[in-house]
Amino acid sequence: MRRKLAAGNWKMNGLSAELAEVEALCAAHPDPKVDLLIAPPATLISSMVVTASDHRLAVAGQDCHAEESGAHTGDISAQMLKDAGASHVILGHSERREDHNESDDDVRSKARTALAAGLKIIICIGESLEEREAANTLDIIAGQLAGSLPDILTGENTIIAYEPIWAIGTGKVPTLGQIGEVHDFIRTKLEARFGEGVGRSIRLLYGGSVKPSNASDIFAVSNVDGALVGGASLKASDFSGIIKALEDAI
Ligand code: PGA
Repeated sequence: MRRKLAAGNWKMNGLSAELAEVEALCAAHPDPKVDLLIAPPATLISSMVVTASDHRLAVAGQDCHAEESGAHTGDISAQMLKDAGASHVILGHSERREDHNESDDDVRSKARTALAAGLKIIICIGESLEEREAANTLDIIAGQLAGSLPDILTGENTIIAYEPIWAIGTGKVPTLGQIGEVHDFIRTKLEARFGEGVGRSIRLLYGGSVKPSNASDIFAVSNVDGALVGGASLKASDFSGIIKALEDAI
């Protein structure tokens, strides 16, 4: 059984004052039936780990460098994230792929380094609107899976987030049929490459304009094991609504 996961991605949002949102979230979910995770900006990782220390809330980085250490001003290594108390790292988010020209190869290298540092990885994939409209979605997804995932992974240390780029921060959401088609396709690909056992144990999150109002419908789709939530993870009240919807989907 894959345990469901509600993951929040704060992106470049959040100052110390926003730790109050995490306190409120933990108070609202003292005994969650699903896994909870937030990826704050790197500056808040240590303090969020302290805030969440008595709670079942994992803290994640939003990116890491492919190398273990070295002359890379401004970058953060996987070991540094781990040292700060993070348990996971998001890799290959479309905003990284776009803003920093990250390729599938880059994402795979980072994934290897992160796993070696003892972090669990959340690998993001997803098509652009152009690719969707040209009916290339499944080809794009297949290519990103083949290129971004390292050869050695398990259901324990790897999570995949399907995030159509055109749905991120736009309020637009694919139809439930479109989400199901991609998630089923990802599952089939994972089973083919890693074997049925591992392929079936990797959790698949949907991401892109998930809100309390659409979460229940999305969580009812086959092979959707949770969500990666951007905007609606910043406020405890919104994220809490999504967490409740996910608990109801068990
Ligand atoms: P959104 O972002 O929920 O604000 O659309 C999702 C993401 O980028 O992970």
